[in-house]
Amino acid sequence: MPFTIAHVSDLHVSEYGDTFHDRLRVVKRSANVVAADPAKLEVVWEEAGWRVLRERGKRRAKITLVDPDGFAHPVPSLKEGAGVIDPVERAAAKAFRLEARRATTLAKHVPAAPALRHLFEATPRNSNVRLLRAVQAIEESGVDAVVVTGDITDDGAGWELVEAAFARWKNEGRLFAIPGNHDLYLFPMRGSARPRPTHASKRAAWQRFAARVGLELSPCGAWIRFLEEADAVIVGLDSCARPQRRFFRHNGSIGAEQLAWLREVGMTGAFRAAKHRLVLLHHHVVPLPHGVGRRAPSEIGMRLDDARSAAEVFDEVGVTAVLHGHRHVSEQRQPAGSNFTILASPSLTLGCRSGDDPSFWRVELADHLIASRVRVPVQAMEQDEDPQEGMAEALVGSLMGDGSVTDLAAEGEDD
Ligand SMILES: [Fe+2]
Ligand SMILES: [Fe+2]
Repeated sequence: MPFTIAHVSDLHVSEYGDTFHDRLRVVKRSANVVAADPAKLEVVWEEAGWRVLRERGKRRAKITLVDPDGFAHPVPSLKEGAGVIDPVERAAAKAFRLEARRATTLAKHVPAAPALRHLFEATPRNSNVRLLRAVQAIEESGVDAVVVTGDITDDGAGWELVEAAFARWKNEGRLFAIPGNHDLYLFPMRGSARPRPTHASKRAAWQRFAARVGLELSPCGAWIRFLEEADAVIVGLDSCARPQRRFFRHNGSIGAEQLAWLREVGMTGAFRAAKHRLVLLHHHVVPLPHGVGRRAPSEIGMRLDDARSAAEVFDEVGVTAVLHGHRHVSEQRQPAGSNFTILASPSLTLGCRSGDDPSFWRVELADHLIASRVRVPVQAMEQDEDPQEGMAEALVGSLMGDGSVTDLAAEGEDD
């Protein structure tokens, strides 16, 4: 029996399962913790750390819903609350709905299939719930290891859910991951993560996750793992190695340091001796069209700036396959002029930009690498364009003429 890997990507989990790619449904909450002065506010409902507060001594008292971390959420209107008259009841119902889908809650007790079906039917767009559904399909495919190629979280929160969902492989030391731009970079628009993430808080959360799943990051951010049972070596690279210069720039770069590191480990006997030499990174190496007869989308703010030098090093050390995510496109190819195979995985939760349903690659490490696309029985979600991309294009328009365009659109070694 050959060793098998599930290559998944772009989980986009978050604290409550909302994502930037579904902007209309981003869970709104206050940016700061509510100062709940008991002299002014009374608690009228409380459960699992959630509270509904009412202003004291007022006839038309304001009602506030506060989550366990102290951030306020808007109370649903009469219309949104399915006609429930009492605002306290509407707020409590919302608290139950959010709490049941919260990453920490789901991680503590991963729901069994019937409960999960119920959650999915009530909120089919929720990416936390979608992840757990997809993991059922991965379990059924009976793979020995799982690799996740970035955008594991939507905005740097929800890592614990990923660990719980893939616990079976994590506990065997066979969960491999690298970060993506959503995990490490910041966005020009507001997401629902609280407290608001910073570059430092995002990187620290990724590093803690890597340590918990047993990945030893070298100072340059890369890691390496030999899988003797598979006659394979896996290398993880951080394609967000360069600090983000502007909020709308989500271009990736592996950087000279990691490439030098790869050259060095690639020269070792153990690396050379492995039959399968896999590299994981988040950004795409070549532009990917969204399907047959369709053009590759704009690269602005999205591409891997040092793709060409990376590909040179990959061939120099004899990388056999490059596994990535980022554009939410499922594709397998052998790029012109290179010797490695590319496996691009779509979003495991949102689906493929072609409109195809979510899927992952089931990779058999036999005499050769054999990859087959396994679809998850969950419908694709209509995805908003990558938020940073729309923003970058708008800026290109407004910056025309002042020289900044050169930096934004045409930066990199290819130009
Ligand atoms: Fe993504
Ligand atoms: Fe990405």
